[in-house]
Amino acid sequence: MKILITGGCGFIGSSLAIFLKEKIKTAQITSIDNLSRKGSILNKNRIAEVKIPNFKIDISKFSSIKKLKKFDLVIHCAAEPAIEASRKKIEEVLNSNLLGTFNILKKCAKDKSNIIYLSSSRVYSIENLRKLKKKGTVKESFNVENSKSIYGFTKLSSELLIKEYSYLHKINYIINRVALVSGPWQFGKEEQGFVSLWVWRHLKRLKLSYIGFGGTGRQVRDVLHVIDLCELIFIQIKKLKKINNKLFNVGGGKKNSLNLLELTKLSRNITKNMIKISSIKKTSSYDIPYYVSNLSYVKKIYKWKPKRNLKKIIFDLYSWMKPNSYLLKKYF
Ligand SMILES: NC(=O)c1ccc[n+]([C@@H]2O[C@H](COP(=O)([O-])OP(=O)(O)OC[C@H]3O[C@@H](n4cnc5c(N)ncnc54)[C@H](O)[C@@H]3O)[C@@H](O)[C@H]2O)c1
Repeated sequence: MKILITGGCGFIGSSLAIFLKEKIKTAQITSIDNLSRKGSILNKNRIAEVKIPNFKIDISKFSSIKKLKKFDLVIHCAAEPAIEASRKKIEEVLNSNLLGTFNILKKCAKDKSNIIYLSSSRVYSIENLRKLKKKGTVKESFNVENSKSIYGFTKLSSELLIKEYSYLHKINYIINRVALVSGPWQFGKEEQGFVSLWVWRHLKRLKLSYIGFGGTGRQVRDVLHVIDLCELIFIQIKKLKKINNKLFNVGGGKKNSLNLLELTKLSRNITKNMIKISSIKKTSSYDIPYYVSNLSYVKKIYKWKPKRNLKKIIFDLYSWMKPNSYLLKKYF
């Protein structure tokens, strides 16, 4: 099976490329990534070690994509994933996240290849999420009509385009609306999500702030270990002939949800470091106080559920960051 992973030098794409290479011995895996993410060169070297090539291609330009060989399956991970950045870099985000998906779909249609898309839980409307009662979980049928950030817009419009292309060209798709993912090889940068940021800042005794919603640190998210995500995608690939053209919420779920105060506690316990955390009351118009994925559908269809709990996620992240902190200092 010939598999193309877009964004194969990113956090999820590189972890997935290495995981699938190990699991599917007959798979020929290729990555395309323009290395725009700071630190992606580290992942380029990592995938090269297991003989996965990367072509430095910008997916917003079809001319380079169309020259690639034919693939049976595309796993589309390339994107600018920072929500806050999407309000400032609108053109760049539209080009990478939406035009990029369009170009990948043109290639899929030409080759008749199937596609697994990494969408986001941020396709759901901010206003409606803000009204959500704590302890609730978000199902796939939740409101997507109201504003969701420029980032969320590009992910939702990519989903719609994938469905149109599937209808027109008879290609099969799976869309995963992924919540927060974390684990080894996440670099502890703000734009990559708060879990690795928290562990890194504690490890290095750097400053942190609770931002928004009064600055009390009570925002809640569910977190998924990157290997749990890889395991799900592996099952999805194996079942793609029978189970396709479906959309799932994918995340850590209720059991793997926590607020920032709880994350601080876990980070202190593992690093044995206590740092000062300041408070910024002002809330970003893109922030939400609470999000937890409802996993009923994905669990029912694939008999999959996250195996790694929050402690394991933090432990694995820390165990990777500590010996590799010289790398993170060198590249950032
Ligand atoms: N990490 C999460 O918590 C999370 C949550 C929900 C959804 N997702 C989605 O999963 C996917 C992967 O996320 P990630 O955390 O690995 O992000 P990442 O930034 O680590 O990886 C994305 C990769 O895409 C590449 N890229 C960006 N623009 C490109 C372009 N125009 N052409 C070619 N390559 C380009 C970057 O260089 C980077 O290596 C994204 O689509 C993201 O929206 C991630």
